[in-house]
Amino acid sequence: MSEEVKTICCIGAGHVGGPTMAVIADKCKHLKVIVVDLNKDKIDSWNNKDLTKLPVYEPGLKDLILRCRGENLFFSTKIQQSIAESDMVFICVNTPTKMSGLGAGEASDLNYIENSARSIAEFATGNTIVVEKSTIPVKTAEVIKTILTSSQRDLEKKPTKSFTVLSSPEFLAEGTAIDDLINPSRVLIGGESTFAINALVNIYKNWVSEEKIIKTNIWSSELSKLTANAFLAQRVSSINSISALCEKTGADISEVSTAVGMDYRIGRHFLKSGPGFGGSCFKKDILNLVYICKLYDLNEVGNYWNEVLKINKWQQNRLTNIIVKKLFGTITNKKIGILGFAFKANTNDTRESPAINICSNLLLEGSKLAIYDPKVNFQDICDVLKDANNKVDNKFKIEERVCMASSSKELASGADAIIILTEWEEFKKIEWSKISKLMRKPSWIFDCRDIIDINNFKESDLNIWKLGFGSN
Ligand code: NAD
Ligand code: UGA
Repeated sequence: MSEEVKTICCIGAGHVGGPTMAVIADKCKHLKVIVVDLNKDKIDSWNNKDLTKLPVYEPGLKDLILRCRGENLFFSTKIQQSIAESDMVFICVNTPTKMSGLGAGEASDLNYIENSARSIAEFATGNTIVVEKSTIPVKTAEVIKTILTSSQRDLEKKPTKSFTVLSSPEFLAEGTAIDDLINPSRVLIGGESTFAINALVNIYKNWVSEEKIIKTNIWSSELSKLTANAFLAQRVSSINSISALCEKTGADISEVSTAVGMDYRIGRHFLKSGPGFGGSCFKKDILNLVYICKLYDLNEVGNYWNEVLKINKWQQNRLTNIIVKKLFGTITNKKIGILGFAFKANTNDTRESPAINICSNLLLEGSKLAIYDPKVNFQDICDVLKDANNKVDNKFKIEERVCMASSSKELASGADAIIILTEWEEFKKIEWSKISKLMRKPSWIFDCRDIIDINNFKESDLNIWKLGFGSN
């Protein structure tokens, strides 16, 4: 078998598949890279001439697409043909939490992984290296291998194809995906076949230095991904738990974070308190970890990680309660402005955004909301809030209580309070003295992302509350 890979196919043109393959295509001009998806609209958007219509917003992505699309990077719905012509197939499909049946609410739904494996089993030709990029429970490679090899077992004649499975989880974060892919802290490759591992190493070696490429056994690789996300989320919950204590004691969470993080053994990253972690992965990956622990009778370990999720939800509910209490205990029919709906800055992604839970809580308390986010569109916001509202008894028409503002000024007009939920750069430049004039008095600003310098408000008629700030 030759180690030279000429064509790569990626199943799944989502937040990981699209950017990852764009970087591979840009760095490996000798490769043909095809990204396939079942979703035709998504593929059409990836192929749209207007680069503002790409389905994923990531700084730097447009330039890559402009350089590579149609040259050595292709987006297609032709799954059969693309798999057939590829030497290596990446599986980059979604692995959401199972919503029903065995393990509902915790286990990963491996349906999309299984379907991808079945497509590869059916359409691949010759020797194919299959790379798990999706985040999956430890031992999933076993499932993929079984599907791939059993597809050959039924053949009366000799098997016509062979497969090698590798695990190479993706560690990119949204909003910094391109930078993370170009300068990864590490690339992890787990597997048994030296030939297949080398083939993948040879791709990454085009731009990643070899000492950053870690080779492990396949189970270590799968488990490392879940563990990394659990550790990151745990740091956010840890600092958020301390933010509440700061508010009670007069300490300042940003000072505590700096002091704690300067210990090199702890490190300064991921110690920013906020409205809780969001994003498509932390919650689902920890739920999955908890489920796996229970499967292996490690209930104490599962319970330990579950606490990270409990603190996260508690932080969001705690914030809502503070807001209601500061506004005289009632927010019925009051207009509240929400600055930022994305789960973090520099992304249009709202999946598991803390804004969903906080806005839903405020709506249940009777408020009206005006929302401004530079990248998230109104339909997405309505859809996720409707979804959340469907899960509670007190149902109402979201569109009647929620409106989109096109600027912070429009949002402020007549509002009793403004809540900063996403740390968008433009929010740091807001001229609050102008905003104050537009709001109903007494007016409140709740800064949940530490973007306001409270010293600038000494003379202001705005009431400022800052998360984790003991002198509130
Ligand atoms: P996504 O939902 O944005 O994209 C997944 C895509 O796969 C969808 O477009 C879907 O239509 C497609 N798909 C599903 N089944 C298919 C099939 N059988 N054939 C063809 N296409 C199919 O998901 P994502 O955010 O890109 O995440 C993908 C995986 O990567 C997940 O396991 C996730 O945990 C992991 N991950 C995500 C991130 C992130 O920042 N979003 C980072 C690292 C790892
Ligand atoms: C996270 C990980 O950082 C990636 O390494 C991983 O690949 C990815 O999940 C995944 O598997 O999906 P992402 O969710 O895109 O990436 O974004 P993060 O930057 O990790 O932020 C997650 C959440 O934590 C955000 O809501 C963010 O606001 C919050 N956060 C992060 C804090 O509240 N404080 C911090 O100090 C850091």
